[in-house]
Amino acid sequence: MNRVFSGIQPTGNLHLGNYLGAIRNWVAMQADYDCIYCIVDLHAITMPHDPRALAQATRDMAAAVLAAGIDPAKTILFHQSAVTAHAELAWTLMSIARTGWLDRMVQFKEKRGKDAEGPSVGLYTYPVLQAADILAYRATHVPVGADQKQHLELARDIAVKFNTAYGEVLTPPQPVIGAAAARVMSLRDGSAKMSKSDPSAASRIDLTDEADTIAQKIKRAKSDADVLPDSPAGLEGRPEARNLVGIYAALTGTTIESVLAEWGGKGFGAFKPALADVTVAALAPIVAEYARLRADPGQIDAVLRDGAARAGAIAAPLLQEVYDAVGFLR
Ligand code: TYM
Repeated sequence: MNRVFSGIQPTGNLHLGNYLGAIRNWVAMQADYDCIYCIVDLHAITMPHDPRALAQATRDMAAAVLAAGIDPAKTILFHQSAVTAHAELAWTLMSIARTGWLDRMVQFKEKRGKDAEGPSVGLYTYPVLQAADILAYRATHVPVGADQKQHLELARDIAVKFNTAYGEVLTPPQPVIGAAAARVMSLRDGSAKMSKSDPSAASRIDLTDEADTIAQKIKRAKSDADVLPDSPAGLEGRPEARNLVGIYAALTGTTIESVLAEWGGKGFGAFKPALADVTVAALAPIVAEYARLRADPGQIDAVLRDGAARAGAIAAPLLQEVYDAVGFLR
């Protein structure tokens, strides 16, 4: 059986990188798979956070994901802290994962910061909790952006090592990473990924941005003085141009090759307004639906509660199997 699981942190707004890198695939996969999607609030507390804002941020991220096209009648949508199996399985898997494996995690190194006391232990073990999220549901496919590839490999390694030690209980998952926009970059710096934690709002397009704001951000996006090349090889060494062309291709459902076949020889003065138009057109229905859903928090809470009950019913027997396999007294 094929099952999809994926998660998103409730920090900041849903942005174009999340949408093109992951959420669009979340939506598309609903047609062919049993899907479970999670707002990962347990992960969100591994970095300093505002406890007064977390519950609303969780609700808002759920609203954004629903607005993007998740159908709660079919798909399970819930928040991680509402299903205790995630933390329980993560603890068990922490005795399987090796510190040498975690020491190699690039995202940890990027987020570690310079605090004298060091990062939280939770930030270090974050990828083990992520593995538990996926393995708790025997998920076979995990739609994510390219930045999560290493965490998915770790989840596979943990599953295989567990099975070798205790018998075939866990299902090693595989990542599903799109082609055109697996890594959407900052609009201000083509070498940094578009991110919720970038202090500059001009670096990203939020799915809550108004049409004017989107057009302004794209107009001011870093680019270069050359015209666009007529083939992808000409984007070599031009990360900002590569990024804007990649976004255009992803939003219009084509390839970088065909965007360049159309736009090769033209400059950014012409390309950026066209990119702004396709971006506004793609996001407008999501922005409108998000505003509608946010006005009805009771509806969001009901979706999340129902999702948590359905998710918990799937995860509980798997957790029991894991507990039996490691030998805990029933
Ligand atoms: P998070 O919240 O950082 O991002 C959610 C999803 O968006 C993708 N993404 C991007 N894709 C392309 N370009 C970008 N600039 C970009 N920025 C973000 C991410 O790859 C991700 O798919 N650790 C995860 C959350 C998580 C999870 C899981 C994911 C927790 N448990 C289990 C899958 C399965 C994270 O921090 O995603």
